[in-house]
Amino acid sequence: LREHEEFTKVKNIATIELGRYEIETWYFSPFPPEYNDSVKLYFCEFCLNFMKRKEQLQRHMRKCDLKHPPGDEIYRSGTLSMFEVDGKKNKVYGQNLCYLAKLFLDHKTLYYDVDLFLFYILCECDDRGCHMVGYFSKEKHSEESYNLACILTLPPYQRKGYGKFLIAFSYELSKKEGKVGTPERPLSDLGLLSYRGYWTRVLLDILKKHKGNISIKELSDMTAIKAEDILTTLQSLELIQYRKGQHVICADPKVLDRHLKAAGRGGLEVDVSKLIWTPYK
Ligand code: ACO
Ligand code: ZN
Repeated sequence: LREHEEFTKVKNIATIELGRYEIETWYFSPFPPEYNDSVKLYFCEFCLNFMKRKEQLQRHMRKCDLKHPPGDEIYRSGTLSMFEVDGKKNKVYGQNLCYLAKLFLDHKTLYYDVDLFLFYILCECDDRGCHMVGYFSKEKHSEESYNLACILTLPPYQRKGYGKFLIAFSYELSKKEGKVGTPERPLSDLGLLSYRGYWTRVLLDILKKHKGNISIKELSDMTAIKAEDILTTLQSLELIQYRKGQHVICADPKVLDRHLKAAGRGGLEVDVSKLIWTPYK
């Protein structure tokens, strides 16, 4: 599919069924042509295969033996689990996930090779299986130090803190790699809001503890947040002054407290002791 075709194509699939949810879609996604006359698609919530008719899905569910995403469970805390799926080992799953995700991502192009990506699938698990809540993708090797390519919380799960969890998780992986990271640009409005919130909370917590006596480099080393992102975040909070050609953090405790209150809830925490993972080689 060429770029100009994508712009002229109207949204085709209006709703999807996924697990126990029926979800209205947001944007066009380039499903193979034979699906383009459907207004609704039926997804297997585990392998993400999609079908045009409910009966096909029901038949599929009787023989599909997956109860969680394919790949390794690298994190479990309570009912929350994270699976790592290698796009090269699970090509069809990776492609299905991209088709699904594009329904909620406007500006992302999907025509990259899933081989080059790892997918981190966040699930809520119960006795029926592990149900996908959201995910993020990550290039196996990024020259631009991207630690996240696309992030999505499925609409029924949005605004509950899962996005913050996914973002925090992406930085925990970067810490384990001993690298700084940044999300791939452009960010959507919701993506930017979520990142701004995450960066603000993480940085202000540290500034408060250190009473402001800390450099951007040190903040970056502690958090794996790229120095540029730290600078723009602190600038937007008006915590940066420019003195003698240098950016200096000016952290008045009262100002910090005011910003921290405005930054809101921390949300679901990543318990690093429950992450069992080694970087991709
Ligand atoms: N309106 C206002 N603020 C919002 C909204 C909203 N609808 N959604 C999220 N936010 C802000 C809030 O500040 C929120 O914190 P708060 O609830 O404490 O106020 C913060 O973002 C994060 O909220 P979460 O509940 O942790 O995030 P959520 O699980 O909803 O996921 C995400 C955020 C992933 C961006 C979700 O909105 C989504 O999937 N959107 C569609 C896809 C998308 O745009 N992805 C980002 C593209 S950019 C990229 O991929 C690199
Ligand atoms: Zn299936």
